[in-house]
Amino acid sequence: MKNKGRVLVTGATGYIGSHTIVELINAGYDVVGVDNFHNSSPSVLDSIEKIVHKTIPFICLDCSNKEDFERVFDQYPDIIAAIHFAAYKAVGESVSKPIDYFRNNLQSLINLIELSYSKCGKGAIVFSSSCTVYGEPDPENLPISESAPVKEATSPYGRTKQMCEDILKDSTKAYPWLKAIALRYFNPIGAHPSALIGEMPSGVPQNLVPFITQTAAGVRQELKIWGNDYDTPDGTCIRDYIYVCDLAKAHIAAVERLIDENNSADKFEIFNIGTGKGLSVLELVQNFIKTTAVTLPYSFAQRRPGDVVKVWADPSKANEVLGWSAQTPIEDILLSAWNWEKKVRGIQ
Ligand code: UD1
Repeated sequence: MKNKGRVLVTGATGYIGSHTIVELINAGYDVVGVDNFHNSSPSVLDSIEKIVHKTIPFICLDCSNKEDFERVFDQYPDIIAAIHFAAYKAVGESVSKPIDYFRNNLQSLINLIELSYSKCGKGAIVFSSSCTVYGEPDPENLPISESAPVKEATSPYGRTKQMCEDILKDSTKAYPWLKAIALRYFNPIGAHPSALIGEMPSGVPQNLVPFITQTAAGVRQELKIWGNDYDTPDGTCIRDYIYVCDLAKAHIAAVERLIDENNSADKFEIFNIGTGKGLSVLELVQNFIKTTAVTLPYSFAQRRPGDVVKVWADPSKANEVLGWSAQTPIEDILLSAWNWEKKVRGIQ
């Protein structure tokens, strides 16, 4: 296959970054990955290399340090686009350490924009955004489309996503050499079918699926379902769970759109990346039990402060414009998450 050029991936050894590198290689791109292992481990690189049977060019560095970040552009002058995942992402932590979040998440993006220009003369950036920018959607806006209002952020983490989108919006308007696409992810879950890479939360998982798989593996005693008295059919919150490998493929579609010289679309575009289907916490839990046939102790508990009641995507813009859509059935996704957990824990 003819090589399609080199894509810089920041946050390369993180959950979504690692899966995206695999898809980039599968699609015929060269990559260079960077990460400072703040929330990931060097062993992820070995696992990616096992999947793709290739050495992955990689530099350990902190994107919020411009002098450091510069090295990747000096060593790889052939970068044609960047996918920017590197960011802090713990919602609770962001409330107690807002400045850390603003400094790291905003500075990294600003550095990427400036270095794209000073080192390459142009920039094509895919930015990792989140449905968190919508806050609690008004019920009449569900499924939610990109034109729905961005609401007051409920955490500094969410605010950094909104602010980074704003930075890209204003910068693409001002600088003729810059183009960008923000992908607003819904809830990414699951792991690569090889079970070599997956989500690896540090400490007690805050997200639902890692907590489920750890409970099924006996690492946690019981899953608590936060609230069963919401205004939803079964009383539990509703989300749009998107398979991480499907999500990874959306980044390739976005890169292709950005580097397509015949594309005269807006210089900054936003796409929802979700399935379009809402699933309640209870439905997801019951599906997991049925699909994996494992025991999963769970009980209902108080609502979690700050939780959105229900949100799911209208992904039609991504379907039509990017030619991308979610493909993987929820059963296969949950099995992939379970297979990954079993591999990590050494369970047969
Ligand atoms: C959370 C973040 C969001 C971030 C996303 C990344 C908050 C408020 N939002 O989304 O900003 O982009 O992760 O993936 O933290 N649940 C339980 N028991 C658990 C864990 C979760 O019942 O032990 C429920 C939650 O109440 C929620 C659903 O499962 O209804 C999904 O939770 P989670 O995986 O944490 O994702 P979000 O809250 O949607």
